[in-house]
Amino acid sequence: MNVRALLTVLRLPHLWARWQLLRDVEPFLRLQFLSFAWESGLLEALRSPASREDLFERLRVQRTDLLEVALDLGVALKELSRREGRYAIQGRRSRALLHDDGDPLAAMIQELLTYHGSVYQHLAERLRGAPLGAYLEKTGTMIARSSRVSEPFIASFVRAVVGADRPVRLLEIGCGSGIYLRYAAEANARVTGVAIDLQESVVEQALANLQSWGISDRFAVVVGDIRNPPADVSGPFDLITLHQNVYYFAPEERPDLFRRLRSWLAPHGTLALTSMMRGKTLAALDFDLALRSTVGCAALPELQELTGQLEGSGFSQVGATRLMPLEPLYGVTARS
Ligand SMILES: C[S@@+](CC[C@H](N)C(=O)[O-])C[C@H]1O[C@@H](n2cnc3c(N)ncnc32)[C@H](O)[C@@H]1O
Repeated sequence: MNVRALLTVLRLPHLWARWQLLRDVEPFLRLQFLSFAWESGLLEALRSPASREDLFERLRVQRTDLLEVALDLGVALKELSRREGRYAIQGRRSRALLHDDGDPLAAMIQELLTYHGSVYQHLAERLRGAPLGAYLEKTGTMIARSSRVSEPFIASFVRAVVGADRPVRLLEIGCGSGIYLRYAAEANARVTGVAIDLQESVVEQALANLQSWGISDRFAVVVGDIRNPPADVSGPFDLITLHQNVYYFAPEERPDLFRRLRSWLAPHGTLALTSMMRGKTLAALDFDLALRSTVGCAALPELQELTGQLEGSGFSQVGATRLMPLEPLYGVTARS
């Protein structure tokens, strides 16, 4: 840099803030690159090192200049390396996405860039009354996948509530990918039951998953709204679970819903739900904004409000456990 250019830099107003903002661009570009690389099949194609020409062919590229610049971006971010004309995966994040359990992370990035991105784009106008976003219809399968980011924490809660060796008839509400049916089935060979989800595409995904996990004979999965359930959803159940979806029910309709669920439980049956609760962490605040901006969703619940609603609906022994360090993700259980 010549001296004049250096002096110009030094005289810039808000020099440190400018530097920080430029640094902030990097995580933004990294998320964009990772999302593109996952969605386009670039990461998959780089499971083993490949030349530009290999990649043009494998990804059926027509605009080669676009991929060339995107590859340069990947190298500049240190997500990719280039040696002797061959590209390879270098960054930890890219590697994690490619791993067997990387899909929830990829879906989380896609959710942030698309759904949450739109939430912030429209936030100013929505403050002044513009309509909320009808996001749920288009994002069902992506949300079902990204919800699995909390999986390790919710899985241990599920194991604890299903127990190890007793017959359990389970109703899972809003099953998404069906992953918690898998944990329940693995923890206790005597668990059977029924799962329901509002969205047909999500149920198709859950059915395919149960099939591939070898547990499709233990659970029926049906499309429907639990507020108006199909005939297959009939009690009594020993356990009713709601994972990460209590905010799809307006606070004022929860007492009614809880009372009905309680009436479907066998004596000494358990209702178990998991949810992020309202909190001041970045993740909780971002999620709360997304929910409040979405048609058909309610704000993140307050833990005490929720446990109070359960008690008010006739449940006893209502208890809550924090499932994740640092984030307000809780498991709540209540007895019929
Ligand atoms: C955020 S996802 C969570 C999926 C899954 N439980 C998990 O934790 O991975 C919430 C799911 O609840 C479903 N859902 C929301 N309201 C529902 C309702 N009234 N009846 C049935 N399913 C519902 C949605 O379609 C969605 O698949």
